[in-house]
Amino acid sequence: MTSQEIRQQFLDFFKSKEHLIVPSAPIVLKDDPTLMFSNSGMTQFKDYFLGYKEPKAPRIADTQKCLRVSGKHNDLDDVGRDTYHHTMFEMLGNWSFGDYFKKEAIDFAWELLTEVYKIPKENLYVTIFEGDASENLERDQAAYDFWKAHISEDRIINGNKKDNFWEMGESGPCGPCSEIHVDLRSEEEKAKTPGVQLINQDHPQVVEIWNNVFMEFNRKADGTLEKLPAQHVDTGMGFERLCMALQGKKSNYDTDVFTPLIAKVEELSGKKYEGILENEKDIAIRVVVDHIRAVAFAIADGQLPSNGGAGYVIRRILRRAISYSYRFLDMKEPFLYELVAVLKNQMGAFFPEIVKQEKLVTEVIKEEENSFLKTIESGLIRVEKLIQQTISETKKVLPS
Ligand code: GLY
Repeated sequence: MTSQEIRQQFLDFFKSKEHLIVPSAPIVLKDDPTLMFSNSGMTQFKDYFLGYKEPKAPRIADTQKCLRVSGKHNDLDDVGRDTYHHTMFEMLGNWSFGDYFKKEAIDFAWELLTEVYKIPKENLYVTIFEGDASENLERDQAAYDFWKAHISEDRIINGNKKDNFWEMGESGPCGPCSEIHVDLRSEEEKAKTPGVQLINQDHPQVVEIWNNVFMEFNRKADGTLEKLPAQHVDTGMGFERLCMALQGKKSNYDTDVFTPLIAKVEELSGKKYEGILENEKDIAIRVVVDHIRAVAFAIADGQLPSNGGAGYVIRRILRRAISYSYRFLDMKEPFLYELVAVLKNQMGAFFPEIVKQEKLVTEVIKEEENSFLKTIESGLIRVEKLIQQTISETKKVLPS
């Protein structure tokens, strides 16, 4: 299955379960003082959970462009160094606004993963919230009982507040959550170490793919929890990780979400991607193909690189890509802008903003590359001069 088909099957499944399919909101948030970017699918629905606005429908599903590069959810340092974290990623989500709750959410998730996508049941594990006395929160026994109908009890794992109580930021809607993890290792590896021991242990092939949040609370600015006026469901499935699982790959970068971009970087740099975890060239290629998506979509959604706020975050991501490719791919001239056309061909059918804004995005990136490369070059000249000066001053004071 191609990534396009995988995305479409998710949307078709939830349409068949009476969900209204909506487009992704822009990646950049302009009217939420608590957040700069959409960091999950639910951000565009925050006011529905809080009861400030009426949702268009009680059931909604979509794929949302998300960016986790600042604030409570920040994966930037892992990007490139591992195979499954990203700055920008797509989050497939289904929502119930005061409609269905835990049972239906769990039943839908299980049906989609095992009957539609046909992920072998023996590769799946789930976690539930174990409770937290300091917050006066009980164990999520209801989720446990609903999971028991689908999966053996030794595959239902208790999780703590860090992993199983989801919050969008320092304040806002939140609630206990139940994650689904997939074990993509070989049978030989599974025989050596049972998957249950590797849940939430940062193993690259035993990863969380889907989080089902049961929104019941609002975290207020003073840190206390208050009950929401109704109970809701907020789910988020990592699209690129799902593609890895369904395409039989061991890394998100080996799926067709990334391979066309990697092929273009190989062509432009003359360097071959070997998929090695600790190889600097391969890290640089992963950084480049990840970061170009974040930067291109942020610009397409109206956030130009700049010296402050969200614009500065975007400029820093772009400069991280330039710096890695300068150091480890020997790319001393602008080239990242040439990846925008590849991205457009790959994602434009689903995200028309990248088609509409292709010219602007390409020009802005090229201009940023030019100016940052000049800064790097003049910095290096200054460093070289300082070295020469130090050497000649040292010669003067030392006896020959
Ligand atoms: N809002 C659910 C998640 O991001 O995991």
